[in-house]
Amino acid sequence: MPAPPAPARDRAAVLCGLAGWLPPRVVTNEELSRRLDTSDTWIRSRTGIARRHFAAPGQATSDLAVEAGRRALRSAGVADVDAVVVTTTTPDRSCPATAPLVADRLGLTGAAAFDVGAVCTGFVYGLASAAGLVAAGVADRVLLIGADTYSTIVDPHDRTNAIIFGDGAGAVVLRAGHADEPGAVGHFDLGSDGAGEDLIMVAAGGSRQRSAPGPVAAPDHHLAMRGREVFRHAVTRMTASARATLTLADHKVDDVDRIVPHQANLRILRSVAEDLGLPPERLVTNIESVGNTGAASIPLALADATARHTIHAGERVLLTAFGGGLTWGSCLLTWPALARTDHPHDTGGTQEP
Ligand code: UT7
Repeated sequence: MPAPPAPARDRAAVLCGLAGWLPPRVVTNEELSRRLDTSDTWIRSRTGIARRHFAAPGQATSDLAVEAGRRALRSAGVADVDAVVVTTTTPDRSCPATAPLVADRLGLTGAAAFDVGAVCTGFVYGLASAAGLVAAGVADRVLLIGADTYSTIVDPHDRTNAIIFGDGAGAVVLRAGHADEPGAVGHFDLGSDGAGEDLIMVAAGGSRQRSAPGPVAAPDHHLAMRGREVFRHAVTRMTASARATLTLADHKVDDVDRIVPHQANLRILRSVAEDLGLPPERLVTNIESVGNTGAASIPLALADATARHTIHAGERVLLTAFGGGLTWGSCLLTWPALARTDHPHDTGGTQEP
């Protein structure tokens, strides 16, 4: 049972549930190599990715989000929440938001429900938003879900993007608690630079394109990314944001037991750890088996590490992310003892919470 709400003076959001869900279809590098001018060797050596999961035809982001959300509620041992926050770059529709639909399908009709958009930084921005709702006393319990179906916006013939992205969903439950207990989220560092808008973009579908005269070119509906520049920004922004968070919390790099970066590219993750001065064994990664899953990547990596017992209660965990916008953000927390975390690759079990 969740603890009763803390007094306002040290009230904080505490992570008490975690889960991930991956659609069953696995797409290997070999499969991609059969239709694209690429190879397993190139993809593994340039990205660290061996396979990823794709949603089935007709499956949308909310379908993945519902599965992850249901499991996270089960992990937390709760049946209801005051708010549902979904963070995604691939909402079911541009209107309405995806969160109310997810809340309804989870039996949470009546809860506050809204989407947060910060591309691959979405989970950290969503965590800050959800934690803020709890800390401000607006909600006692929040379900936060990061979910993306990049397979729906990546051009399958674009060998640069088609090899990186995968689909998935990860979710956490936050409850009201105290700032000094394990699982309390914060400090945070969040930032953006809109001058880099064109580095990661889906040009069509929004008001900019709709208000323009003339027909829309089909490629404008696909994700466009300037990979090499994004790579450089990802390393420098995540490293700087991680450092800023440690400074805010008055911690040293050596105080970090586990760093869980947005799973963008294994070379990016290793560079961030190395630039921070963290030994490689403190880096948490699952990119080899899921690829870059956007807003789902950090909770999926956390769920994988928790289920494999490679992250332990009491460890100081640093989350850091970078994505389109440009956006970046980091968060520190001490890992809590979670009652139950299923492995995200276990795609079975769709019981009610
Ligand atoms: O989620 C947050 C945002 N996204 C990211 O963080 C992704 C950041 N960027 C990356 O991960 C990497 O830039 C990529 C994986 C996208 C590309 O890797 P790269 O090492 O930066 O490759 P590159 O774009 O510099 O291309 C090197 C070469 C090029 O050939 P030439 O011009 O040297 O002859 C590309 O045409 O590799 C070629 N190439 C490929 N070759 C085989 C690009 N994609 C492929 C491919 N297979 N799939």
